Amino acid sequence: MASKPSCSRTASALALAASMQMTTPAVADDSTPRLGVSPIREVIQAMTLEEKVALVLGQGMAGMSGGMQGPGVGVDTNSRVPGAAGTTFPIARLGIPSIVMADGPAGLRIDPTRDDGPNQTFHATAFPIASLLASSWDDALVERVGEAMGAEAAAYGVDVFLTPALNLHRYPLGGRNFEYYSEDPLVSGKMAAAMIRGIQSQDVVTSAKHYAANNHEWNRNTINVKVSERALRELYLKGFEIAVKESSPWTIMTSYNRINGTYTSESPWLLQDVLRDQWGFEGVVMTDWFAGADAVKQMQAGNDLLMPGTQSQQQALLNAARKGQLDVQVLDRNIERILDLIMRTRTFRHEPVSNKPDLDAHAQISRKAATEGMVLLKNERDALPLAAGKKLAIFGNSAYDIIIGGTGSGDVHEAYSVALPEGMEKDGYATDKALSQAYAEHIKAAKARRPETNPFLAPPPLPELVPTVEQIDAAVAANDVGVITIGRNSGEFIDRKAKDDFYLTEAEQTLVRNVSTAFHKAGKPVVVVLNIGGVIELASWRDQVDAILLAWQPGQEAGHAMADVLSGKVNPSGKLTDTFALDLKDYPAAENFPGVTLLGPDPAARGGIVINDRAAEVDYRDDIRVGYRHFNTWGVEVAYPFGYGLSYTQFEYRDLKLTREDAGFTASVIVTNTGRRAGKEVVQLYVSAPKNNLEKPAAELRTYARTRLLQPGQSQKLVMRAEPRGLTSFDPEAHRWVAHPGRYTVSVSASSRDIRQQAHFDIKDELSFMP
Ligand code: BGC
Repeated sequence: MASKPSCSRTASALALAASMQMTTPAVADDSTPRLGVSPIREVIQAMTLEEKVALVLGQGMAGMSGGMQGPGVGVDTNSRVPGAAGTTFPIARLGIPSIVMADGPAGLRIDPTRDDGPNQTFHATAFPIASLLASSWDDALVERVGEAMGAEAAAYGVDVFLTPALNLHRYPLGGRNFEYYSEDPLVSGKMAAAMIRGIQSQDVVTSAKHYAANNHEWNRNTINVKVSERALRELYLKGFEIAVKESSPWTIMTSYNRINGTYTSESPWLLQDVLRDQWGFEGVVMTDWFAGADAVKQMQAGNDLLMPGTQSQQQALLNAARKGQLDVQVLDRNIERILDLIMRTRTFRHEPVSNKPDLDAHAQISRKAATEGMVLLKNERDALPLAAGKKLAIFGNSAYDIIIGGTGSGDVHEAYSVALPEGMEKDGYATDKALSQAYAEHIKAAKARRPETNPFLAPPPLPELVPTVEQIDAAVAANDVGVITIGRNSGEFIDRKAKDDFYLTEAEQTLVRNVSTAFHKAGKPVVVVLNIGGVIELASWRDQVDAILLAWQPGQEAGHAMADVLSGKVNPSGKLTDTFALDLKDYPAAENFPGVTLLGPDPAARGGIVINDRAAEVDYRDDIRVGYRHFNTWGVEVAYPFGYGLSYTQFEYRDLKLTREDAGFTASVIVTNTGRRAGKEVVQLYVSAPKNNLEKPAAELRTYARTRLLQPGQSQKLVMRAEPRGLTSFDPEAHRWVAHPGRYTVSVSASSRDIRQQAHFDIKDELSFMP
């Protein structure tokens, strides 16, 4: 396992910086071009080869001092914004500043304290994880979260925010699924586009990542993903296509893996043909940290910037350029894009760094977003919302040791987090003190026993406390409702496991069983709160409990947001953007996840590359049969389908009308709140294509909409537009996007399996589009 450098300040390799000073004209005279004053081309012409090579490499990473990653290129990257992931090389004589890059996606990842800085903290807001944000189906809300995140990056002097992350949830065990949005590319793309709009509105550059097909962590640095062009285009690239076309991220981060034999960061097809020529991307492509194997090939493919930058990459580029194996014009092309990017940054414009983001306001946005993306999976006998003033017996480690987000580069250093009992008490509920005492002691002791692990990685989970029969009986006697949380954490470098992760641990099963039996015997309800980052198994135990709220990992305001929904202050309106299958083996990817190792070390894994990953490959034999596309086409029973989510009220749909326009259509439907509480409804529009020799999913999500808060009895007309291109499938033979002639069915649905209104339209002449 690779240990990623920690965020401590370390002097990294200065050797190159010193050597550069020798080969670089030290002083600028009046005729020296300057970025922003002179045309970019003149600035490039004035650069020495050493400067050119420096500019296509980051300066290294804090903690890189001859470790596994090898020395960095420049001075300590950590000096501007400690805890940031990287910086570019400054060339002062040409007026080129260094710009700073830091992680997301659930908030800005920088160090919360500084050794030598002012006596101040530098906390960032922990927002809900991407899977929760997506479950809101609310692009406008996600854009607002983006604005708040972008404002924090701007306040702390970060130029490039390494977010959003939008790889597809191919399989529930992907360790970083929490950072990503959905099993569906339309949802992923729309959410990413909204996030990009929000962040970039604050003059902060985004980096949509990881392009592409980086769907798990195992051997991620070397794995070769074998995948058809159709599945790539329709699923794994689609979200990026939407994000690029709708909101122009200024950078894209390539992934670690290879696709069909070629590292993504070395693939002219992915970077030039698809990204730039077909989608019109005009920004900078950067690598993921230490990704790829051959710096020269990366440059040639149009991977403009190699992050975080190593001396071995620098040597390789200098040698290749000197020997004529790397055309300097290739460097110049990449540098032009990098300079163009630098000129867009706040650093270039000398914008002030306040170091004072509005953390209070952003906490409110985080809380609001968290409530909008929680999904009510089950609610029987009116267990929820909890009536005011009820006494709650709260069980489950994670209720007290709340999990607000995942680990790794997606972890945020927030100022505080709110646990569930705290949130409930704030809302006027009483929580059982004997239980909270027992949990506090258990958690403290379990943490003390837990072996030290790399803080970058997900810690081993604490053993779940199983209260004794006496403890449970006392809790039943003293309280009105039993609440159980189930917690899960995961993150970079490690995928999740089936045992004790996808499936409940034995202790959790016992907890659910014992608490449910005891409370039900006394006629009292049991509510489960899922504090998880990805799909788990529910079908075997859900019948034992009355209600299940999928609260995800909801950011630092977790307890408050959970209380908002459990109390009914906020009526849940989130819907699933993943299928919760009955069992892990039901996902087609189960057959070959995460792939197989190949014999011997990977010959391509050389250079500055890091990690002790093995040569490995995975064959995406599931092809386009990912998520609901598979389950709904083959009629596989699931626990909860894609698009599903309950409310404390009910909605009726009527008067679906289709208007054909420019070969696409607009659908309108009237949604009425027929229940007794105000609520919002997410409406999904699926299209089924006519039979054709191209395999088609039963139906595909083509657009969606969300009502405003509707009072009981109130209605709203929703209008949804489907573009003609959005009706097509990728035909690999014709090498085009095609909608074949025939009858199409439009289903306006409350979930992918709850069709409320249907209409049809015909396509007479084939529609086809170039990729
Ligand atoms: C992750 C990226 C992240 C980068 C910088 C990599 O390990 O895969 O998502 O942006 O590190 O921290």
